Amino acid sequence: MSESGCRRKDCWKIELPLRAYAREMGRLDGKVIVLSAAAQGIGRACAIAFGKEGARVIATDINEEKLKELEQYSGIETKVLDVTQKVQVEMLAKDIENIDVLFNCAG
Ligand SMILES: NC(=O)c1ccc[n+]([C@@H]2O[C@H](COP(=O)([O-])OP(=O)(O)OC[C@H]3O[C@@H](n4cnc5c(N)ncnc54)[C@H](O)[C@@H]3O)[C@@H](O)[C@H]2O)c1
Repeated sequence: MSESGCRRKDCWKIELPLRAYAREMGRLDGKVIVLSAAAQGIGRACAIAFGKEGARVIATDINEEKLKELEQYSGIETKVLDVTQKVQVEMLAKDIENIDVLFNCAG
C-alpha cells in the first residue's frame, strides 16, 4: 500500500491535483461566522484568523471606532452590537440568513 493508503498504482493521478486544490482553499470557505466583542483582544484575533481562512465574518462590538479597523481585512464586515441589548441581538439575527458559527466572545 502507498503512503496515501490507496491500493491502486495510479491513484496519485487523482490525489496530487486534489491535494493542490485543497491547499488553495481556505478551511472555512463558504462558512458564515458571527463574533461578538470583536473590536479587540481575542475576538479581533479570531475575526482576522477566520477571515484569512475564507469565512464570511460578521464582526460585532460596542466600540464602533475600533471595530471599523477590521474592515481592512478580507472577508470581514462589521456591525455595532451591544450584547446586553436584546432588541439589537434580535435585529442582527433577523438580518443574517444562515450562521455556521456563533462565537460570543463578549463576557
Ligand atoms: N484575555 C484573556 O486572557 C481571557 C482569559 C479568560 C477569559 N477571557 C474572556 O474572554 C473575553 C474576551 O477577552 P479579551 O481579553 O479579548 O477582552 P478585551 O477586553 O480585550 O475585549 C473585550 C471587547 O468586548 C467589547 N465589549 C464590552 N462590552 C460589550 C458589550 N456589551 N457588547 C459587545 N461588546 C462588548 C469591548 O468593546 C472590547 O472590544 C472576555 O469575556 C474575557 O473575560 C479572557
